[in-house]
Amino acid sequence: MPPALPESLAFNLNFLHPLLMWVLLATAGYAMLLGIKAKKTRTGTPEERKELIKGQFGRRHFQFGSLVLAVMVLGTFGGMAVTYLNNGKLFVGPHLLVGIAMTSLLAVAAALSPLMQAGNVVARKIHVGLNMGVMTLFLWQAVTGMQIVQKLLSPPAA
Ligand code: HEM
Ligand code: HEM
Repeated sequence: MPPALPESLAFNLNFLHPLLMWVLLATAGYAMLLGIKAKKTRTGTPEERKELIKGQFGRRHFQFGSLVLAVMVLGTFGGMAVTYLNNGKLFVGPHLLVGIAMTSLLAVAAALSPLMQAGNVVARKIHVGLNMGVMTLFLWQAVTGMQIVQKLLSPPAA
């Protein structure tokens, strides 16, 4: 068993992860929009491209993508740490397993950056495929996450 946490601290830590993850969902959605615009910058008609290049969407997508990766890694391990500190164990269920899968997929997708920047089309396709998968799983993760929040808020079963 890990050392017991003071009651109030444990209570607040319970809600740090869900809050952070809702903010991350919005940030990831924004990063996705920037990625789609980066693609349009690459593939649009000459007039469209001339306009879109000013937005520097590729660069901004890379920046926001990196932020999303960092926060997701910390959020996942943070969620596991809080669960462990509170319960002395992890609950091997959908939320834990899908969370680990999401973080792994996002890390692999991010590692394709140098290849994408060298113009590798296959790397690009894999990047988009993996990350669209991550975004879909994120919606599901929000549902199972809120179910855990509900459980934390309801009084313990007698
Ligand atoms: C939030 C999830 C993400 C989604 C949905 C996403 C989606 C996309 C899309 C649609 C493109 C355009 C591909 C094309 O031009 O055909 C792209 C490009 C790219 N992404 Fe992501 N991405 C995500 C996260 C990340 C992360 C975490 C990184 C790196 C830390 C990253 C780095 C890049 C780079 C370097 C490019 C090439 C940009 C360019 O053309 O200059 N992305 N991504
Ligand atoms: C978007 C909304 C999300 C909500 C509302 C949410 C909520 C929660 C809650 C309440 C816990 C339990 C913490 C505790 O015991 O005090 C938890 C644990 C956890 N969360 Fe989330 N979460 C969300 C998203 C995510 C995402 C995106 C990931 C990873 C990519 C993730 C990974 C984890 C992990 C690995 C745990 C530890 C699970 C365990 O050992 O049982 N969560 N989450």
